[in-house]
Amino acid sequence: MNHSILLKVAGKYGTPVYVYDEDRIRKNFRDFLLAFRSRYPKSKVFYALKANTSLAILNVLKEEGSKADVVSAGELKAALKAGFEGEEIIYTNNAKTREDIMLAIDSNVLLNIDSMDELNRVHDILKSRNKSIRISFRVNPCIDPKTHPKISTGIRESKFGIHIEEDLAFKAYRFARELDNVEIKGVHMHIGSQITDKKPFIEALDKLMAFVKKLREKLDLELDFVDVGGGLGIDYNSDDTISPDELAESLVQVLDRWSKRTGYEPELWLEPGRYVVGNAGVLLCEVQSVKETPYKQFINVDCGFNTLLRPAMYDSFHRIENLSGKGRGGNKTYDVVGNICESGDVLGKERNLPETKAGDILAIHDTGAYGFSMSSQYNSRPRPPEVLLWGDSAELIREREEIKDLFRNQRIPEDLI
Ligand code: LLP
Repeated sequence: MNHSILLKVAGKYGTPVYVYDEDRIRKNFRDFLLAFRSRYPKSKVFYALKANTSLAILNVLKEEGSKADVVSAGELKAALKAGFEGEEIIYTNNAKTREDIMLAIDSNVLLNIDSMDELNRVHDILKSRNKSIRISFRVNPCIDPKTHPKISTGIRESKFGIHIEEDLAFKAYRFARELDNVEIKGVHMHIGSQITDKKPFIEALDKLMAFVKKLREKLDLELDFVDVGGGLGIDYNSDDTISPDELAESLVQVLDRWSKRTGYEPELWLEPGRYVVGNAGVLLCEVQSVKETPYKQFINVDCGFNTLLRPAMYDSFHRIENLSGKGRGGNKTYDVVGNICESGDVLGKERNLPETKAGDILAIHDTGAYGFSMSSQYNSRPRPPEVLLWGDSAELIREREEIKDLFRNQRIPEDLI
């Protein structure tokens, strides 16, 4: 993104502020979709809203022909608000409430079931309301995606889905097939996030296709789709990651191999989040002070892990650039730290930056995914605004929260006043 535009945005809307590049989002989505469509025409891409749920961005992706992957009633409503039809939405979650399930039924989304217990609950609700719904099961293929443990979701010990092992998933399909009110449409898995190697994806799809073949042979069940979830990593720090083309090439090879054996070609569904928006966003913050201790030099900025949780939560790396420091010499090694009352609030450790001063604007890169969407009001700090860039024009798409918003839903009992 152009530095002078970013500095103008910081001047106009203040800091901290999230800024997204609309063209980049469109390009990322198109590259991803085309990688799969060109090799496997029956591919469908469901953007994972959790990465960035801002309505303006959802509208952009809707325009590009995306469908929607949601994980909560809030995300479901956001998708509907952005114009996605129920038929274009898949709803995945491991602990759906009765209200969630009723909303899913009324909105006609595809419900991705996570356990037998949930299936029974869904069926009871359907019966009592004389309704039906399209479903898939999330299955656990027990594959280690070799990413951060907190985002490895398809390993043996994971809470998600029904294990393929011990025929548990097979039994779920066999049971569901007998139910009147559910229409079985497909199978789903999601093995993890920020995966930079194609091997785990290939292994997982191979297991999934063997399972699909078994459903066909033993239950005479022909699924419309296989959904391989999201998870494609991005380059945060010259990571050696795979491209959508490489991922598509490998996955389509697996599908082709199986379809040669079975003569059966299901739709391929994908749920990228990070790849679509991750590198299309920066977080701008302002340096408040610079401090030298006998051991370290710190840059104190006006945001923290309330604004960007990833470094504190996953030890993740985001490139940091001093937009005001161009042409200034004297590079130094700094820890860029936030304004939160915990020493874990480090946004960038030991970064080589030009001599930095109070008032400088820093850009924290690749924060379009899981940035704003994981932000909080911790330490009673209002959440930042979001701005969408389109060429040279900048549009506010979410207003900055104000201090008064912190108190909006609170009540003080009469006797305490
Ligand atoms: N589908 C399902 C069912 C998922 O659980 C996820 C992410 C995705 C799709 C999208 O995955 P992606 O393409 O974005 O990797 N907060 C973490 C990431 C958590 C991802 C959880 N599930 C982070 O900041 O790295």
